[in-house]
Amino acid sequence: MSILDFKKEELEYLFQEAENILRDPTKYREVLRGKILATAFFEPSTRTRLSFQSAILRLGGSYLDLGELEKSSIAKGENIADTIRMLDSYADIIVIRHKLEGAAKFAAEIAENPVINAGDGRKHHPTQAMLDMFTVKRLKNRIDGLTYGVLGDLKYGRAAASFILALSIFSPKKIYLISPGLLRAREDVTSILRERGISFEEVENPGEVIGELDVLYVTRIQRERFPDPSEYEKVKGSYIVDLKLLRNAREDLIVLHPLPRVDEIALEVDGTRYAKYFEQARLGVPLRMALLKLILEG
Ligand code: NCD
Repeated sequence: MSILDFKKEELEYLFQEAENILRDPTKYREVLRGKILATAFFEPSTRTRLSFQSAILRLGGSYLDLGELEKSSIAKGENIADTIRMLDSYADIIVIRHKLEGAAKFAAEIAENPVINAGDGRKHHPTQAMLDMFTVKRLKNRIDGLTYGVLGDLKYGRAAASFILALSIFSPKKIYLISPGLLRAREDVTSILRERGISFEEVENPGEVIGELDVLYVTRIQRERFPDPSEYEKVKGSYIVDLKLLRNAREDLIVLHPLPRVDEIALEVDGTRYAKYFEQARLGVPLRMALLKLILEG
């Protein structure tokens, strides 16, 4: 349900399994033969849905997709509990995304089979955080002791929130929470950092801290979650990662982004050595393969 459900050792075990899969994928081609994964996405998705589907296929299993909501019985007024009960009897594991906070937890209470939260409103997106940490570990050889910047919509963004919470399980040197004043990190996230004694600072301008960062995690403004459209108008386009900003970056800085990107990373950054967001998206498949294998096979 949440990245906070995991201990550091468990995440390290997961990353090791993902690393083993990357090294010799053919060895894993049959491990989930006969297993069925159901994907139920009540909110848009490209990477998360397709990478879970790719992951189960690459392990020899198969998937069912709830498909477009307009074409499912939800359009006839079926409630989510009944939909989950059906998926639970047709598949061995369910991956769910929903705009309501707590929807995945509700689904897990109803289903007998395991349920994976692929995003519940602005709250949690644990498998994104897992693949983000796995990417840092692969590219930087470690997670502990680095300086992180998390830039963007820290108020409504579940990927950003889960990334910050994931860092609290490790020992970062420092985290800069970089956002416009209106989109500052929520108290339920910063209170965990405080409880766990993680050094962090809130700043508004990425230019102030860019030179200190080992990892810059960029997120888009979550337009669809703004209760008031005029609030969105006030912050839209308020930050951008471009070559000008990166002029002061450390040579070995890596720039990550859960994607989709809108305009917060200029296209000119894609060809630089800093840009690691496509590599990050690619690593979502072996990471989710490792996760499915560990859940379904033990
Ligand atoms: C994120 C999400 O859905 O929370 N996307 C993803 O899963 N890669 C981030 C976003 O939508 O901005």
